[in-house]
Amino acid sequence: MAEVPRKKLNILLLSVHGLIRGVEPELGRDADTGGQVLYVLELARHLARSEEVESVELITRRVQDVKVDSIYAQPEEELERGAKIVRIDTGPHRYLRKENLWPYVDEMADRIVRHISASAKVPDIIHGHYADAGYIGAQVSRLLGVPFVFTGHSLGRVKRQRLLARGFSEEAIESRYNMRRRIEAEEFALETASFVVTSTEQEVEEQYALYDRYDPSQKRVIAPGTDLARYRPPGKRREHSEVRRELDRFLWEPNKPMILAISRADERKNIMTLVEAYATTPGLRKRANLVILAGNRDVIGDMDPGARKVLRELLLAIDRYDLYGHVAYPKQHQQEDVPAFYRLAAESRGLFVNPALTEPFGLTLLEAAASGLPVVATNDGGPQDILRNCGNGELVDPLDVEKMGKTILNALSNRHRWKQWSRSGLSGVHRHYSWGGHVRKYIGEVRKVTRRHRSPFGRAGIRNPLPTVDRLLICDIDNTLLGDGDALQALMERIERQGGKVGFGIATGRHAQSTRAVLKRWGVRTPDLLITDVGSQIQYGNPFNLDEGWKAHIDFRWEPDHIRRVMKQMEGLHLQIDENQRPYKISYDLEGSKPPTKRRIVRHLRQHGIRANVIHSHNAYLDILPMRASKGLAVRYLSLKWGLPMERILVAGDSGNDTDMLGGNVLGVVVGNYSPELKVLKGKPRVYFAQGHYAWGVIEGIDHYDFFGTIVIPGE
Ligand code: GLC
Ligand code: MG
Repeated sequence: MAEVPRKKLNILLLSVHGLIRGVEPELGRDADTGGQVLYVLELARHLARSEEVESVELITRRVQDVKVDSIYAQPEEELERGAKIVRIDTGPHRYLRKENLWPYVDEMADRIVRHISASAKVPDIIHGHYADAGYIGAQVSRLLGVPFVFTGHSLGRVKRQRLLARGFSEEAIESRYNMRRRIEAEEFALETASFVVTSTEQEVEEQYALYDRYDPSQKRVIAPGTDLARYRPPGKRREHSEVRRELDRFLWEPNKPMILAISRADERKNIMTLVEAYATTPGLRKRANLVILAGNRDVIGDMDPGARKVLRELLLAIDRYDLYGHVAYPKQHQQEDVPAFYRLAAESRGLFVNPALTEPFGLTLLEAAASGLPVVATNDGGPQDILRNCGNGELVDPLDVEKMGKTILNALSNRHRWKQWSRSGLSGVHRHYSWGGHVRKYIGEVRKVTRRHRSPFGRAGIRNPLPTVDRLLICDIDNTLLGDGDALQALMERIERQGGKVGFGIATGRHAQSTRAVLKRWGVRTPDLLITDVGSQIQYGNPFNLDEGWKAHIDFRWEPDHIRRVMKQMEGLHLQIDENQRPYKISYDLEGSKPPTKRRIVRHLRQHGIRANVIHSHNAYLDILPMRASKGLAVRYLSLKWGLPMERILVAGDSGNDTDMLGGNVLGVVVGNYSPELKVLKGKPRVYFAQGHYAWGVIEGIDHYDFFGTIVIPGE
């Protein structure tokens, strides 16, 4: 039977920091433009080459800055057929290092949503890379109902541990790296992800395991591909290259087997142990040469202190053990010569050695394998996986000098085994570490999750129930709209004067009935729109129509019984009265002098594998909602559904459950009598803190943005 052709996939990759361009990416230009940039570019290209993929967009931040190439200001750059980079304006024009992107992530999520709705092509999957794009992608995914994939690349909790071990204080780490924000973003991404792609098993066991939401079954180990085209085994003819000439300057007998090490001059790379093993193992010096490629250098004295120390120790050791004529340590080499070093080593029946103290991935081992060069490598993360898959050498304890020396000597002495390793490395690297293989596994995983998904925006026929409205004012009720009778009256009169062009909506924690009752009591006209139950229900018009699409959308992964059970174990809170318990909202009153913090509750739920939105207001209420429900997500849903840009929606609020509705691209107004949870919004680009209390604050906000006039956003 012929197979039914499957719908081709549209894939959205997000990688927001660093400088990303298709032609000669500037890898290593700064700390944010490195391995991850190469990874996402390669992934985008290779995905686009698959038969199963229709399009790939790699979204990053647009940068207009004279300090960097003008290509980073181009809104689009084609990578190859079916794959392009899309650059989205976010925050200031200038280049920002990744630690400084955090204030703009909500804005970026909203802009990406707008980009998606403008292109009328909802992606089948969104894949966020690193904490920042992990957070942004997770937000977009929750809103669009598109499955989300996360790759951490490196993780905040691991980095914090390492910095603490090196003697940095919590405060120093916080102020330099914004670590808490980063870790929360990672937790949020993990909570949202349908699956997580990692490069190695170790990442799962030792790194992701540090997270509250640790779920090994969520992880897919799919190693990245290597650019195997550059690395090949030696040909029949002798390698003729500059490289050989360079080595001749150091080595007496350059044709002996070559022990090759390639790494940055960094203490963690542990080159000294290799030098000592080479120098002190009887017979090894006679058997083989040692070639160390530790980056390029001009004047060692001008290098950073770490590199200086490593190189000084290396030169001193060569002198101490009198290794002249046996060891080569080229001062300069061209990037394009690197493959020739591996080939020469393979031709000499040598070995590649990676003695690093830790090695999360180990790209060099794959390059060696692709060159037919067997390896001896540190018994850690990446190498463990690579040797398991490629069977091309041996693992060693990076601290055991004697053992390392013996292992190397042994490896060089058995010709038969050497050949076996060389062959098995070659076939293993092509099978397990090519981008083609990566993409096949990746698409297989994506298919498993897209099959179960349906976006609420995929269907046509959605009608704006308020056809004359071209802007929308949405107010929280308690302590925002209501609280001052005169202010309320003044606000309502201003709205009436606009006629039908301004829509009037409510977003409240109350349920619909109580909302209507309180509005009636205060003489407020019937709103056009009611977002109630902290965003878990939407109704429009008069009489009110329930938005069934929203209900279906937020039902995703909602397990109210499980939540209530798990929450029973927490002290310092109790369930609110029955009428406040809604199908998609579980609410508690916080009690006692020391109620649990929001952080503790979130952790508790995550540790029990629950995915939910936790909202804390006035230090008195706690609401648990489905992961796709909140006032903010409801407002954005409406913006999309009605085709009303977020810049034409003004929202006003005073407390915790208003937070996510106020941030991002809508125009936010915080009334003067706000509660402390909203302080986190200070400094956000589109949040105006009014002086006036209650509805006076709302009026002030309307004037601030000239919302009933031309709509201006101060500072933009
Ligand atoms: C309203 C609701 C209550 C909720 C609170 C905070 O007071 O009645 O259930 O906890 O808002 O969102
Ligand atoms: Mg309120």
